[in-house]
Amino acid sequence: MASQVLVAANRGPLSYVLGDDGALESRRGGGGLVSGLSAALAEQPEALWICAALSEADREAVRRGVSEPGVRMLDIDPTIYDDAYNGIANSVLWFTHHVLYDIPREPVFDAEFRRRWESYEAYNRAFAEALAQEAAEGASVLVQDYHLALVPGLLRVLRPDVRIAHFTHTPWAPPHYLRMLPDYARETLVWGMLGADRLGFHTQAWADAFLGCTDLDDAWGRAEPGADRVEHRRYTVWKRRTTHVAVYPLGVDGDELRALAHRPEVDERLAALRTETGGCRTIVRVDRTELSKNIVRGLLAYRELLAGQPEWRERVVHMAFAYPSRQDLAVYRDYTAAVAQLSAQINEEFGTADWTPVHLHVKDDFARSLAAYRLADVALVNPVRDGMNLVAKEIPVVSDAGCAVVLSQGAGAYGELREDALTVNPYDVTQTAKALHRALSMPEAERAERTKRLAAAATALPPARWFAAQLADLRESAQTS
Ligand code: F6P
Repeated sequence: MASQVLVAANRGPLSYVLGDDGALESRRGGGGLVSGLSAALAEQPEALWICAALSEADREAVRRGVSEPGVRMLDIDPTIYDDAYNGIANSVLWFTHHVLYDIPREPVFDAEFRRRWESYEAYNRAFAEALAQEAAEGASVLVQDYHLALVPGLLRVLRPDVRIAHFTHTPWAPPHYLRMLPDYARETLVWGMLGADRLGFHTQAWADAFLGCTDLDDAWGRAEPGADRVEHRRYTVWKRRTTHVAVYPLGVDGDELRALAHRPEVDERLAALRTETGGCRTIVRVDRTELSKNIVRGLLAYRELLAGQPEWRERVVHMAFAYPSRQDLAVYRDYTAAVAQLSAQINEEFGTADWTPVHLHVKDDFARSLAAYRLADVALVNPVRDGMNLVAKEIPVVSDAGCAVVLSQGAGAYGELREDALTVNPYDVTQTAKALHRALSMPEAERAERTKRLAAAATALPPARWFAAQLADLRESAQTS
């Protein structure tokens, strides 16, 4: 039966594992996008989620016709998938939107890039075709993230009757950064996005960056002489179709998260972590080991804290939960190794027989992350650039005794949390070390008050309302355009 509400995202709400007996077992998918959308779609039981088969087990599930209601997995040719996901989405678009290139050497756009770009187009086409097949007349289609930036344009051609929204979970590249892409890639990217009726971003900064990229020649060269301000546009017009651009800052569902954080398995892990800290104060970070998360500078700041404020030695531990990610890419493997190496160096330099300054945990364990959220005296969230960063929002919501949040100006969450977080320039290690000192020294009453206000800001737009608002706006634009 054709669907009225469809979601398209690279990662689905579940993935499969193949047991030794050949049986397929489904597991919940991971990552911020998946948890936000899964919570939102729990209130949209009729919706269909189209996602890619990510592994051989997922492909096997498609081949055997194994599926769950409300989910359709696409079995995309593995080479095309690898080129699109690793070769373009994660190696090029992620780096461009997060401003991560090591400029004297990168990026290099050569014939190999062109080949991968064609795979990215084919992968987007597979999604557009599946959506075109599954969508009912006039359906609402909500496309997610940088993996699928071309889908709105491609689907618009196939199904002019459907309403299309696209949400970007990452930052959007500043215009001068997007301009580095070859013209054909940049133009196709913007064309793809402008196929949507509505575009959503987590913050005004990312929305403005996108708008600045829609007409790069204007953005670069045609400033009005004598103009002392520039109007911020809220929409962009292309081929006489209007694409509305809006901001929907994803928050967390406080009740659900607190319930999850008080399950017996979390209590158990909390007890174990308490023993591990040996009564020290705790600075916690929880991240994928991701270049944009700035884990190395976070460790350098901790080292500077121990060097500059020796009173904290043997009184604090840094619990870094840094879960390896994208290990198919060499640059991520190198970064993971650098994090481990620096942690070991700090332990070597400052550790004593009874005290290990850095506790690096690399095995992803959601229950243990929640336990760490409850335990943290200080949360360190210092990405160089981040679409939103839900960790900064989750910690204050579940904290047991109040937690001071050291927060980067580059995180999307900065806009909503800046009043009560201790904010830092993510490149400024010394400022980050000082903020850690201030956070550790904050009087308990102040910490508790700030945590309460941070939690209120973090839960302002929980996933179900975040999604419903986009759907309502999309339906509204269907009536007005
Ligand atoms: O930040 C945007 C986001 O989609 C996250 O929700 C997600 O964790 C990540 O990017 C993508 O990760 P992955 O490549 O593991 O799906």
